[in-house]
Amino acid sequence: MPFLHLAWTCFASSAFLAWGANAASVSSTPAQTFTGIGGSGAWWPMDLYKFPEATRQNLSSLLFSQDGLGLSSYRYNVGAGGVNVSNPVRAPETFYVSPGVYNFAKDPQGVYFLQAASKNGVPSLTAFANSAPAQLTSGKASCNGGFVTGTGVQYGTYLADVIAHFRSQGININFVSPMNEPDSNFGPSPCGQEGMQVLPNQRAEVVNGLYTALSNKGLASAVGILADESSNLSGAGNNYASWLPQVVGKVAAIVHHTYDFPSDSSYSTYITNTNRAYPGKPTWMSEVCCSLGNADGTGKGWSGGYDPSIKNALMFSGLVFQSLVLANEPHYDFWTLVSNQLGCSPLNNPSCVTSANSNGWTDGLIYYDSAYNSNKNYALYITKHFWTYKHFGNFVKPGSQRRPISGSDASKFTMAVSDSSTYYILAMNPNSGDSSLTLSFPDAACASRAVRTSASEDFASVALATKSGSSWVLPLKAMSLTTYIFNRKAC
Ligand SMILES: *[C@@H]1O[C@H](CO)[C@@H](O)[C@H](O)[C@H]1NC(C)=O
Ligand SMILES: *[C@@H]1O[C@H](CO)[C@@H](O)[C@H](O)[C@H]1NC(C)=O
Ligand SMILES: *[C@@H]1O[C@H](CO)[C@@H](O)[C@H](O)[C@H]1NC(C)=O
Repeated sequence: MPFLHLAWTCFASSAFLAWGANAASVSSTPAQTFTGIGGSGAWWPMDLYKFPEATRQNLSSLLFSQDGLGLSSYRYNVGAGGVNVSNPVRAPETFYVSPGVYNFAKDPQGVYFLQAASKNGVPSLTAFANSAPAQLTSGKASCNGGFVTGTGVQYGTYLADVIAHFRSQGININFVSPMNEPDSNFGPSPCGQEGMQVLPNQRAEVVNGLYTALSNKGLASAVGILADESSNLSGAGNNYASWLPQVVGKVAAIVHHTYDFPSDSSYSTYITNTNRAYPGKPTWMSEVCCSLGNADGTGKGWSGGYDPSIKNALMFSGLVFQSLVLANEPHYDFWTLVSNQLGCSPLNNPSCVTSANSNGWTDGLIYYDSAYNSNKNYALYITKHFWTYKHFGNFVKPGSQRRPISGSDASKFTMAVSDSSTYYILAMNPNSGDSSLTLSFPDAACASRAVRTSASEDFASVALATKSGSSWVLPLKAMSLTTYIFNRKAC
């Protein structure tokens, strides 16, 4: 029985590799092409604008230069004037005065960091709104009300005029999102933030009105409409049928938040259903924050609490892998990037910024002292999340492609990225023991660099992967995220 014998041999050798050497291989066929890794300019610009110019420049470079995170996407919050929002930091100014009349001297705070992103060459710039300007909403406020049926073109014209203004200044906003979390009005008033409810059966009008306004300015192909930024996958998927079929041709991408912290199987179901109903239309992740839990993703879920540790930074990295690897999405935006929710006073207790507490929130990569106005503490505090997100910001660039990894130990926390000259292998080990990955490539590859973030290392250079026969061995230290870089040529 030679045939059966052969089958047994194959099984035995792959079982041996799975147990002994974690073999895996990088596909010769690309999966998705990436378009951006980024986050949002809400609501920290209101505070950071008041910091010394040297600090504002340092922050801009930490966010947008390759020496920092190297973000390729930035979401500028188009303010609705903050009417009835009690927290002044979450009450961005609006340019809107009356129909067709704007005051572009408003919101210098948000504009400063939008300009910084543009100057640093961030290629994906989104203008997103939590609410229409107060005058246009049902309650004449920036929250606790809803979109008014019949105002789609008026609201769209405002957004299109704002975008045309910035584009005329060389700030090439190329995406617009007219309803961030339309599933809530964020009331009651006084509210904690801006928000405008847009009922599922009103969402097509918002998209149609905006598309008409962009078309009137010749911007419909230059500026893609993102919708609908529902706060979670299950809510999003349940509502698409009410609006999306009417306007799917006018939407550049279907974007969602993941505040339900979906399991792998619910995320996959969402992707399968959405791809089937709207073929060829990309979906992507535009906002998440705020979870505790373990490095491997167990225990995740919407919650307060500040955890700057490697454990939580790896948990968030796992969410990025989930969107990019499991869901095959091309773009990932974290929420606020910069936060004052340390939950402690660093001047009273300097070490508190590196310890977990239950008063703060895990909603930033960089933090600042909420009492800066009175104590003049303008320090920026960098958490492990900054260093882990830097792996994605530095190495998952627009135009590069994901290469599936298969084999006996193709982990859901490992991703291969290729461009014409380089392979980047981002590999996370969320466990308490060291391991290694034995990886082969479909064509020439030669180890050139490796950087690691762990409890004791911040994007530190570490030893290169080593050659073993026709494969490479990539050590994966316990509780770490490492990127191994390979030139696509023979050694
Ligand atoms: C805004 O606040 C004012 C003053 O408290 C209140 O009268 C009004 O109802 C609020 N508007 C909304 C939409 O909640
Ligand atoms: C998901 O969003 C819907 C609204 O779209 C909301 O009703 C529901 O409570 C949310 N579920 C979770 C788990 O956040
Ligand atoms: C920028 O801020 C970081 C974080 O606080 C700090 O380590 C670094 O020295 C600062 N750089 C400059 C040029 O001020």
